[in-house]
Amino acid sequence: MQNVCILGSINMDLVLRVDRMVKSGETILSKSFQRISGGKGANQAVAARRLGANVCMVASVGNDENGLELVKVLKKDNIDVSNVNYSDTNPTGMAIITVDDLGNNSIIVVPGANMEINPSYIENLKQVIVSSKILVAQFETPVEATIQAFKIARENGVVTVLNPAPAKNIPEELLELTDIIAPNETEAFELTSIEVKDEESIRKASNKFLEKGVKFVIITLGEKGAAIVDKDKLSIVPAYKVKAIDTTAAGDSFIGALISKLVNSDIVDFNSIENSIKFANKVSSIVVQRAGAQPSLPYLEEVKEVYGEE
Ligand code: ATP
Ligand code: RIB
Repeated sequence: MQNVCILGSINMDLVLRVDRMVKSGETILSKSFQRISGGKGANQAVAARRLGANVCMVASVGNDENGLELVKVLKKDNIDVSNVNYSDTNPTGMAIITVDDLGNNSIIVVPGANMEINPSYIENLKQVIVSSKILVAQFETPVEATIQAFKIARENGVVTVLNPAPAKNIPEELLELTDIIAPNETEAFELTSIEVKDEESIRKASNKFLEKGVKFVIITLGEKGAAIVDKDKLSIVPAYKVKAIDTTAAGDSFIGALISKLVNSDIVDFNSIENSIKFANKVSSIVVQRAGAQPSLPYLEEVKEVYGEE
């Protein structure tokens, strides 16, 4: 039985290291260039798998060199890729990522074949979703497909996790079908128009999601950690103090780690989510100290070496 199903993107990341971010109208030289496996969906899948979860990916790549290479990498991590579509009409998704000397990044995604996942493709994979405990999606694949997948999940008691990244308007129907929503601070602002800066604003922003039927809201707060909110409670779980060199995939590692822990909980409630966030903060603290997306994601053994057995 697959216990985590990830519906999401697979991208080839084209990573440029720069002294500082380029300004509009300006040309600068980059210090290095690398091709690195990425995509929010794939990063979350790899993170969860390396931390011990059985993971199945529902995704779409181009029938091209990048696509074949990226799927091979996922297979190497023992992720079930039997439900990845190979497109003859669109190229594999790509992301142009610039990382500056402070470890900040900016990302432009070229979605390509990721956009080919549609509701009928999902309908054909009903059994894959039904046999999972948790279904996760982001916003680098079409939202109609996510709604279809979440409907199947909800009808069959599968927990739905929405990482609304990159942020875009969320249909009410999707919010009603979402058990856990997990934006970062920027996404929370874009989705609620509330700047998340303290407990009061976290509560206000979270209420906007809770009022629409979401059961739990997690807002990741970068070096400050992450907040978990339901209609009665709010808790901020602090991050670990480390020196970040590249935050690419910090959010993805957080989601992957969260679900790898949550999938082993008997029930998904405030306490089990809070406990899973403690673990996710450990994992992400390791990720931000390393460069790139998938190569920076740790295995469970490494997390235990750094932070000890829980
Ligand atoms: P990104 O888009 O860069 O992948 P994100 O903006 O989606 O990341 P963040 O909220 O920045 O997500 O970070 C996710 C998690 O990573 C945080 O909740 C925290 O656990 C960890 N983290 C991020 N930055 C740092 C940091 N500087 N020091 C320690 N932990 C960090
Ligand atoms: O979250 C990081 C990821 O966002 C990168 O790997 C890139 O592919 C984009 O999807």
